[in-house]
Amino acid sequence: MKFGIILGSTREGRVSPQVGAYIKEIADKREGHEFEIVDVAEYNLPFMGTATPNTKWNEKINELDGYIFVAQEYNHGMAASMKNAIDSARDEWFNKAAGIVSYGSAGGVRASEQIRLVLGEQKVADVRTNPAFNLFTDFENFTTFKPGEHMEPGINDMLDELILWSEAFKTIR
Ligand SMILES: Cc1cc2nc3c(=O)[nH]c(=O)nc-3n(C[C@H](O)[C@H](O)[C@H](O)COP(=O)(O)O)c2cc1C
Repeated sequence: MKFGIILGSTREGRVSPQVGAYIKEIADKREGHEFEIVDVAEYNLPFMGTATPNTKWNEKINELDGYIFVAQEYNHGMAASMKNAIDSARDEWFNKAAGIVSYGSAGGVRASEQIRLVLGEQKVADVRTNPAFNLFTDFENFTTFKPGEHMEPGINDMLDELILWSEAFKTIR
């Protein structure tokens, strides 16, 4: 199966590429599955409804069997770019599973919980385990990602749950 590791932030100086690369490194150890970085910034998505949609985004979301959202927290919520990316597709998301990996000063879990709420409407089933990185302890100067080894089991739990549910969902699509 093919999974997308979705980088939700687009701001200059963002750290999401570092977090996504680390998740990919661990996920790539899973034989028989493909994991690719899907960078929202590369799609230049217009705010939904304000310009011609970028259908490449819809094609990419459609071709994937499941997702890992790399979620950052801004003002106690998900990034606007993440919400817009989720809103910019519809049926392409349906009947798939997702894991969420978050970061922020409190692990980014407030952003994760918002994403869960929104995914329900897009018929995406989010798995329980949410590895949550802390800006104070898993980053140097809040910019260089240095995750503790203790985070790895949680990432593997999330991957186990995601693969299991994605296999199940494949049978009903
Ligand atoms: C405008 C703004 C608001 C933020 N608000 C929060 C917040 O409410 N809670 C939190 O934990 N971190 C907050 N942060 C810190 C971000 O989570 C942190 O900068 C993170 O690296 C952002 O992800 P990015 O680097 O991928 O853009 C905020 C950062 C910005 C720029």
